[in-house]
Amino acid sequence: MSHIETRAVHSGMDGVSEMGSHVPVIDLSTTNPLTGVESGGDSYENLATGGHLQPGDSAVYQRLWQPGVARFEEALSALEGSESSVAFATGMAALTATLIATVTAGKPHIVALRPIYGGTDHVLASGLLGTEITWTDVAGVASAIRSNTGLVILESPANPTLQLTDIRVVVEAAGNVPVLVDNTFATPVLQRPIECGATLVLHSATKYIGGHGDAMGGTVSGPDEWMVRLRQVRALTGGLLHPLSAYLLHRGLRTLPVRVRAQQETAGEIARRLVDHPDLRRMLYPALPGQDPEALIGRQTAGAGSLIALDFGSFDAAVRFTESLRLISHAVSLGGVDSLVQHPASLTHRPVEASARPAAGVVRISVGLEHVDDLMHDILSALDASRVVSASLSSVR
Ligand SMILES: Cc1ncc(COP(=O)(O)O)c(C=O)c1O
Repeated sequence: MSHIETRAVHSGMDGVSEMGSHVPVIDLSTTNPLTGVESGGDSYENLATGGHLQPGDSAVYQRLWQPGVARFEEALSALEGSESSVAFATGMAALTATLIATVTAGKPHIVALRPIYGGTDHVLASGLLGTEITWTDVAGVASAIRSNTGLVILESPANPTLQLTDIRVVVEAAGNVPVLVDNTFATPVLQRPIECGATLVLHSATKYIGGHGDAMGGTVSGPDEWMVRLRQVRALTGGLLHPLSAYLLHRGLRTLPVRVRAQQETAGEIARRLVDHPDLRRMLYPALPGQDPEALIGRQTAGAGSLIALDFGSFDAAVRFTESLRLISHAVSLGGVDSLVQHPASLTHRPVEASARPAAGVVRISVGLEHVDDLMHDILSALDASRVVSASLSSVR
């Protein structure tokens, strides 16, 4: 299965037809029959220390092993090109487990590149999990590394400015320190960080992978040696993905390539139509001229994705626009079939320290699968409406 479209449809399906089914069976068992006292104990020992379920062994308890979750993990690994993957209840649970594994290995120092998702920024800045953080940019990675650095973390495209980072350059600068790339925005359809030398790939599967706004999940993909540690952290801390969500996320993977490409095409078209709009200070979208100075599109990523950001230059204008949209829902999250708008400085990036928070004039739109003309109609109507409000406000003043 050499093409990603084929892998997306068929991966993680081993044994399904032998069970007389066409799609994976959803098993909600929280506990599983044991084959004997000693063999049950051995199975427990194996799974609680991060091992794989062995043929003929009991899965023991849902927190230790869940067959639908394992199927989804296998399918995702086939797309990311990783040895294996571990799935969690949310993207933040995936990140938290990775940080716990890093701290407990005696490497609590993390180097992270800003901008990054506000929740990631928050957990790292808080030091809640015993991590110490050094914030930097690409040029500062090499000098930020210490003997106790356990991880370098980056996001590309970054949240919410959509700026691209050259993963290979960061990997080189990090030397022996593993690099984790949050690939939520790009998805493996556009970008596979492991091919660029990254060790770990993280997803908020809640976004494009699920794709329909009805299931939460998080994943980490990478070498087996790391995944054993992450399964152990998951078993001990309990951040397991629910089997129903695993089913929905696995189903989401099957249409991921078509959704990602269709959404990207619409986002690109909207960005091109808006780029010279007089009400915008700047349209942020990496495929626009001048916004990909290192020519990473085509080299590192197959496209700019389907998030766009509109910089209005002022908080008031950003609020008026956001609240004037009708078809595009004002709601946090991204990557689903329906378009969403949000104001990062007030919402996703609210916990970020003021000096690193996104500009107050920036609004982020996740472009869905609606027709481009309907989305443009909504955006242009909102721009008109916010101009009218702005004119009437200034006449009152
Ligand atoms: C880029 C990115 N990474 C991680 C997360 C956290 O994922 P979750 O909300 O599934 O915990 C998010 C959530 O918005 C995100 O956008």
